[in-house]
Amino acid sequence: MSEVLDEWDELNTDFKELEAHNRAYLKHLEELSGYQKKCQEHIKHQRYRIGIITKKLSKMPKTKENEAQIAELENSILTRKAQLYEIEQTLPKENGLYLKIILGNVNVSILNKEEKFKYKDEYEKFKLILSSICFVMAILNYCIRFRALELSYIFLLVWYYCTLTIRESILKLNGSRIKGWWRFHHFFSTVAAGILLVWPDNDTWLEFRNQFVLFNIYLSFVQYLQFRYQRGVLYRLKALGERHNMDITIEGFHSWMWRGLSFLYPFLFAGYIFTFYNAYTLYKLSFYPSATWHVPVLCAMFFILFLGNTLTTIMVIPIKLHERVKLQYRIMSQRLSSQLLYSKENEESEKQSEDKKLE
Ligand code: COA
Repeated sequence: MSEVLDEWDELNTDFKELEAHNRAYLKHLEELSGYQKKCQEHIKHQRYRIGIITKKLSKMPKTKENEAQIAELENSILTRKAQLYEIEQTLPKENGLYLKIILGNVNVSILNKEEKFKYKDEYEKFKLILSSICFVMAILNYCIRFRALELSYIFLLVWYYCTLTIRESILKLNGSRIKGWWRFHHFFSTVAAGILLVWPDNDTWLEFRNQFVLFNIYLSFVQYLQFRYQRGVLYRLKALGERHNMDITIEGFHSWMWRGLSFLYPFLFAGYIFTFYNAYTLYKLSFYPSATWHVPVLCAMFFILFLGNTLTTIMVIPIKLHERVKLQYRIMSQRLSSQLLYSKENEESEKQSEDKKLE
């Protein structure tokens, strides 16, 4: 018995240590949220004053004397905006309405750059795996006409697009620059797939089904090309932001990106023409006596998808040309923050080795 009691006493001492560590941890947590709030207030303040300064600058008449000063100040403002964006990425954010409805008030902010990169990489992989499954299912559906298989395929599409909307909202909250249209596109596709699911098995569906399945086979192929491009961008941007990385330059990244885009664009536009053709076929089908409301509604939806995709993809080029300077500053500040982290790590390890020497 005494042996057991001794063991219990020993465990009690360990527990006191655990309690002390927990107290220290809670104190740090409290301090942490205090610092987070302070940083958020500072960012707000910085942005507010930058807004005022920019307004004053735009009203200022440009003369030969102040031209250089104005240009320098404009440059500094752009750098500061990129720095504020980088700082903001290290702070937690409140969920948007959609995430609040779906997940409640769970915090989905990712504060670590490496974790953010992993999440985005995982999102791209998820899309690739699901589009490969959809590719196989679409081929099966093309070869076999079996209603249960058809419905399970369309149900998979509903689930897939719905999941994408959640993942993309989390990405957006964590600083992704994904355009509103692509997010809307996936909400819209969820609804379209839902309508396809309830479209009765009549002759209008039979007329459209094979075309729809072929369209999805093509879409899976385009999604594979998109995956290769997006992954390339992701890894190259990561390498660019790393300190002392000489393997890749901003110039190199840009020339790779334009090459990637010019390869991808013809396939994307072929997909948009296919989308338009879907709308056209549905338009013709809507005159059939057996046509239900699903046909004109889907016709309008495919047409909207065609318009939105085409316009957004065309608009990417001029936006990217203007974003060049912004990207340079973003990478500069990314390198700066990793440099600061590096010198801090060095300082700490030097301090530790000095302490060891003293011991
Ligand atoms: N779906 C999800 N995310 C997308 C996206 C899309 N279609 N297009 C761009 N993004 C993301 C990028 O990954 C990037 O994310 P990040 O900020 O987290 O790094 C962000 O949005 C900004 O991207 P941007 O710089 O504007 O474009 P890009 O160079 O990454 O991609 C395209 C440009 C045109 C290649 C891309 O938008 C695309 O593939 N569009 C076509 C989509 C389509 O038409 N699908 C239907 C197929 S028929």
